[in-house]
Amino acid sequence: MNRLSTSQITASLAMLLLGTGGALLMGAAPMAIALPVLAGLIVLVINAADHGAQEKAPAIAFDQPDLIDHPDFSSLLEGISDPLMLVEKARIIRANRAAQRLLGAHIEGEDARIAIRHPAAAERLASLAPLAEPFMIELVGVGSKDQRWQMRVAPMGAVSSMRRLVHLVDHSGTHAAERMRVDFVANASHELRTPLAGILGFIETLADAELGKDVETRQRFLKIMDGEARRMQRLIDDLISLSRIEAEKYRAPDSAVDLSELVAEVVGVFRSSHGDRGREVEMEISPSLAPVLGDRAQLSQLIHNLIGNSIKYGRPGTPIRVTLNSGPSGMARLSVADEGEGIGPDHLPRLTERFYRVDSGRSRAMGGTGLGLAIVKHIVERHRGRLDIASTLGKGTTIAILLPPAPVEDPAMKAIA
Ligand SMILES: Nc1ncnc2c1ncn2[C@@H]1O[C@H](COP(=O)(O)OP(=O)(O)OP(=O)(O)O)[C@@H](O)[C@H]1O
Ligand SMILES: [Mg+2]
Repeated sequence: MNRLSTSQITASLAMLLLGTGGALLMGAAPMAIALPVLAGLIVLVINAADHGAQEKAPAIAFDQPDLIDHPDFSSLLEGISDPLMLVEKARIIRANRAAQRLLGAHIEGEDARIAIRHPAAAERLASLAPLAEPFMIELVGVGSKDQRWQMRVAPMGAVSSMRRLVHLVDHSGTHAAERMRVDFVANASHELRTPLAGILGFIETLADAELGKDVETRQRFLKIMDGEARRMQRLIDDLISLSRIEAEKYRAPDSAVDLSELVAEVVGVFRSSHGDRGREVEMEISPSLAPVLGDRAQLSQLIHNLIGNSIKYGRPGTPIRVTLNSGPSGMARLSVADEGEGIGPDHLPRLTERFYRVDSGRSRAMGGTGLGLAIVKHIVERHRGRLDIASTLGKGTTIAILLPPAPVEDPAMKAIA
């Protein structure tokens, strides 16, 4: 309810007196005006009492203890996992453990500009100008060289206290994901543009009345165009596979797959379809292996990609050894080993990146898209498995995969079902 101010009460009293005097002068009976006057006076007294109480309110607020002395203030700061600091006149007066881990254990009491050591942050935190609204800035290189943070600064308490709540949010992951997305689109477009430009060039030549007449040239050009179109098709198929696997990333596969039977099937396909090199694929499968928890089609693709690489990059005339046995913690261990020029240690960490190739020309000449190992990595991740790539230059490469077993079915439960 709105209360009356002192001037409003004075004005109301004056009006009441004027009204009463006027009524008496005009001959009204004193008893007829006594009751309304009394009621008016009571209302004014109540309002005046409320007004007095209201005027005292700021005094109560003034007596309130400082928020940072509250016993729960520390747990409030620790309840936030991001680095959080309370800064007063450019000095850090409180910092949670995450902030101390990032900026140093002794930052409480330090000048914020020295603790954060970032020009953009220092300038904004040193400013003593009143802060009306929160603001945000991006900081690069705080903690480690590549780390990116969003620093949110919000005013806290009375403007005169110049207190600011500084919250650092790690943006490194989001930034890396965004960069990967941009790189991926650029790489995919480039991979598609090259064969497409070739096809368009040959169409132009064949459309020429003179050049297109020659049957031999036409046959040769059509063969190249066919190769380029198939390359584009393979690339699109691989891109679709990759996006499907990624879309299912958080849904673990739920069927039991007999990996022994699957490995034998894929090895059989290579032996019968890759001539002499295919017949160099050797297989060793331990007996009575438990089934794994998996997606059969994806596991088949994984085995194809690994054996395909060894066929392509291993030295002809040397064996490709496919081994399936039991690994640690009841997991199945599949390994594909070849003998060849191997992969240098600089390249190893990047092999599973999309489109990464050690020798792009060679991979392309063999029809490779550079997505094979990226697909393998995503399939292993979806299966909650592990991937290990070991290679020695001049000797060869071994890629091993560990896959978790399918849970053993309880016959009693099966009977109930
Ligand atoms: N067994 C291997 N021996 C030597 N180098 C390998 C081997 N497997 C992969 N590489 C290297 O890693 C790169 C990436 O392999 P990946 O399977 O992802 O792509 P790709 O084989 O070039 O193309 P795709 O698999 O799509 O046909 C290859 O280009 C090759 O340089
Ligand atoms: Mg490959």
